[in-house]
Amino acid sequence: MENSSRILSGMRATGNLHLGHYHGAIKNWVNLQYEHECYFMVADIHALTTNYESTGLIASSVHEMVIDWLACGVDPSQAVIFIQSEVPAHAELHLLLSMITPLSWLERVPTYKEQIEKLSNRDLGTYGFLGYPLLQSADILLYNAKFVPVGEDQVSHVELTREIARRFNYIYGRETGFEEKAREVIPKLGHKRALLYEELLVQYQQEGNDEALEKARFLLKDAVNLSLGERERLFAFLENKSKVILTEPQALVTAASKLPGLDGQKMSKSYNNTLMLREAPDTISKKIKSMQTDPARIRRTDTGDPQKCPVWQLHRVYSNEEVKQWVQTGCTTAGIGCLDCKGPLIESIQAESEQFRERARPYIEDRNLVRNILADGAEKANETTEDTLDMVKSAMGIKY
Ligand code: TRP
Ligand code: SF4
Repeated sequence: MENSSRILSGMRATGNLHLGHYHGAIKNWVNLQYEHECYFMVADIHALTTNYESTGLIASSVHEMVIDWLACGVDPSQAVIFIQSEVPAHAELHLLLSMITPLSWLERVPTYKEQIEKLSNRDLGTYGFLGYPLLQSADILLYNAKFVPVGEDQVSHVELTREIARRFNYIYGRETGFEEKAREVIPKLGHKRALLYEELLVQYQQEGNDEALEKARFLLKDAVNLSLGERERLFAFLENKSKVILTEPQALVTAASKLPGLDGQKMSKSYNNTLMLREAPDTISKKIKSMQTDPARIRRTDTGDPQKCPVWQLHRVYSNEEVKQWVQTGCTTAGIGCLDCKGPLIESIQAESEQFRERARPYIEDRNLVRNILADGAEKANETTEDTLDMVKSAMGIKY
């Protein structure tokens, strides 16, 4: 498969997964693995950035999370599954990229301040936490990944990755001599124009600002003191978008999960409103039976409005047209009770979780299976990343 369509994604290891993870991310991974060369990573070092004081949860989550992935249908013969810390190139590239990363770029990533405020019970004024999105950039750039499936909240991290790639290419991707020759000509533009030209050059080449390119072209056309050759040299210098050493990735934004939690809010461990992926049949039934319904439906004879009911949101994901029609009619005419309505839902979710538990069983029975998958994955990931790291080192002048 072509590496031009390579995909990398990751997830922090912070406990067992719930159905929100499945519908919001992993289902999408499962589809992608058949069309792309996929790398799926357990981001254990990322988990350390916020959980460095109590790391026990990370250790116990790693294998469980991978079992959850496998249960969902992530297939180790299609995709490479590995643990971040078992591929040292992630740490190494992170360090190398940190040399060229302006602090201000990291400080202005929206998740930085948000998380510090949200997790105010932990001290996140650490070097590692500020570098969180840069580590993610290293994860992505190491594989020359073209696409990065992520949720909306991670888009700014992919954007930072693009900026880092551009800056790296700009600094280390120039042909020798080319730049010197162009730089000799720049002063002939006259002091003011020369300054403006350099400014526009940076805006275009480092920041990808197309308007700056247009302005610089104009500026060169108007410059009278240049010979034809000199003018062309500056045009060429302008357009020379450096050699591409690191590939700019694109975010593949997974639509926000259509699956709300049991209370209608976003499904999340911290709201205590989850259905776990491998939830047992009786707890599925218990949890759904105790779900809130349309608050206006107090008595069995009251009509209801599915739009105001979290149970309906689950039907939208789990039920076929016929069942959905039955709910709509039954609810709005008081033809069915809420317990009736929940019945087919319980069955569908139980059937799905049965499938998950079935797929997970061999991996629970023989822990070595997962160990082997991860060892294989780390070996492949180490192989893939070696080339990138070599290229980066020689570009940076530390390959001897
Ligand atoms: N930061 C991501 C999250 O919290 C996890 C992650 C780490 C990741 N490295 C990545 C996602 C690389 C995509 C690509 O969900
Ligand atoms: Fe919700 Fe179904 Fe009850 Fe209507 S009948 S309020 S959709 S649970």
